[in-house]
Order: sequence, then C-alpha cells, then structure tokens
Amino acid sequence: MSTSPSAVSESAIVTRLRAAGCVFAEDEAQLLISAAPDPAELDAMVERRVVGLPLEHVLGWAEFCGLRVAVDHLVFVPRIRTEFLVGQAAALARALGAERRSRTVVVDLCCGSGALGAALAATIGRVELHAADIDPAAVSCARRNLGTAGGEVYEGDLYEPLPATLRGRVDILLANAPYVPTEAIGLLPPEARMYEARVALDGGADGLDIQRRVAAEAAEWLAPGGHLLVETSERQAPLTVGVFTRHGLMPRLVTCDELDATVVIGTRPER
Ligand SMILES: C[S@@+](CC[C@H](N)C(=O)[O-])C[C@H]1O[C@@H](n2cnc3c(N)ncnc32)[C@H](O)[C@@H]1O
Repeated sequence: MSTSPSAVSESAIVTRLRAAGCVFAEDEAQLLISAAPDPAELDAMVERRVVGLPLEHVLGWAEFCGLRVAVDHLVFVPRIRTEFLVGQAAALARALGAERRSRTVVVDLCCGSGALGAALAATIGRVELHAADIDPAAVSCARRNLGTAGGEVYEGDLYEPLPATLRGRVDILLANAPYVPTEAIGLLPPEARMYEARVALDGGADGLDIQRRVAAEAAEWLAPGGHLLVETSERQAPLTVGVFTRHGLMPRLVTCDELDATVVIGTRPER
C-alpha cells in the first residue's frame, strides 16, 4: 500500500504539533497546510507553532464571530468567550436602532485587533464605528480590520484620542479592557504571557484598574440610554458592578456558561 506525500507530511506535522503539546494537532496541521504558500514556509510556520507562538499569530488571523480577523505579532488574540459580549451588544444595538432609526454609534475602546467592533458592525450593519487603543501595533492591526466597515481607529490612552464630537453620542461602548490581576499574569498560559503584550493583559492589583477608568468617564460619552459593556470574570463581576454603580451607570450582569463568559452592562439613565 502506498501513502501520498501530502498525507505523509500532514501526519509528520501532526506528530510534531502533538509532541509540542498542541491539543488540536490535526485541525492545526490542516490550517497550517492550507495557509502556507510553499513547503519551506510550511516548515517554518510549524516550527513557530512548536516553539509556542499562538496559532493565530502564526497564521496571521483569528476566527471571531465567523470573521477572519488579522492579528499581528504581540497583538491580543480575540478570545471565543468574547463573542458573548458581541452578541449582547448586538441585541442592545438592535433595540436602540429600532427606537431611533438612525446609525448606531459604536466605540470599541481597548480595541486590540478591532475584532469586537468589526464583528458588531458585520452583525448589525448601519454603524458609525470608532475604535482606540494605546498600543501602536494594535492600532495598525485594527486599521486593517476595520477599514472595510469604514471604522476610524485612534491611538492613545482610553478616551483621550476620541473626537470630542462623540461626547454624549455613543450608543454602544465596548471595552474589553485588560482585567487580569498583576499577580495572576504569571499563571496565564505561556502563549499569552510570552506572545501578547503585557499592556493587553495587566489590569493592576485587582484587575480593575482600566475598567475603573473606563467607567469613570463612560456617562460623559454615552448617549442617554446608551450602554457600556465590559468582560470580566465571575469572581471580579461584583466589583465591576460596584464600580459601574458608583459612576452613575445602571449595572446588569449577564453570563454564558457554555463560553465561560461574564459581561457587565452599564446603562446611562435616560435622564
Ligand atoms: C484584553 S486586550 C483586548 C483587545 C480586544 N478588545 C479584544 O477583545 O480582542 C486589551 C487591549 O487594551 C489595550 N489597552 C490597555 N491599556 C489601555 C489604555 N490605557 N488605553 C487604551 N488601550 C489600552 C491593550 O493595548 C489591548 O489591546
């Protein structure tokens, strides 16, 4: 019985990936084979994966809400659990859009690759989309991902780079800010610790430093009845709810067991 050369190389790749601890070695091998332009590059890509780079950084893209989102070196890889936040945002945006019959104004703060804004725009359409991040690598990646949605991407600290004309007009404010407590960074998988920027992970002593700053200014930027959505952990959620309340937002906690996702939604009162 003969075996085709491609089957041999695929099984060799699976063996290398499995030995390196990749749980989904077969799936990864197929993705790498379909992405590599030639055998030499395939070998180099497999090697990058074997030494520990996240698959998404090796491929140059991540799948998120059914989209292929470009993810550059050191830029945060959008997590599947965050699709829950986008789903919640889409439901809220639809409700607001039905009331207002105008384009939904969306801001994706701490946007990283821009995956959340891109996915929300693709889901609901008719958006005025703005995104911002402090990390220049994330900003350049987000510009590529949000270009087709007509999104504007700004570089700077939280709200600081946003145009003042957005004040009081934002319907949906997405902020998947870093929320890992500093001491827990060392417990993250090496893929995150070594290949994602520290600024994308570190949320300070209790993980809420950035969320507090986001919440503190949110009511100024949200339209009456507009919503701020942040992802958090089950353990941190009561703290996040408290922060939202202190800053005049009406908090609501939503969870998804299947995706192990916890989101706090803060709504600016209508008056
Ligand atoms: C956990 S990552 C999330 C990225 C993206 N929202 C996602 O879910 O894929 C957090 C992002 O916040 C950005 N960030 C951290 N501190 C920031 C700040 N002070 N101002 C703006 N962006 C910040 C990081 O550069 C990183 O891209």
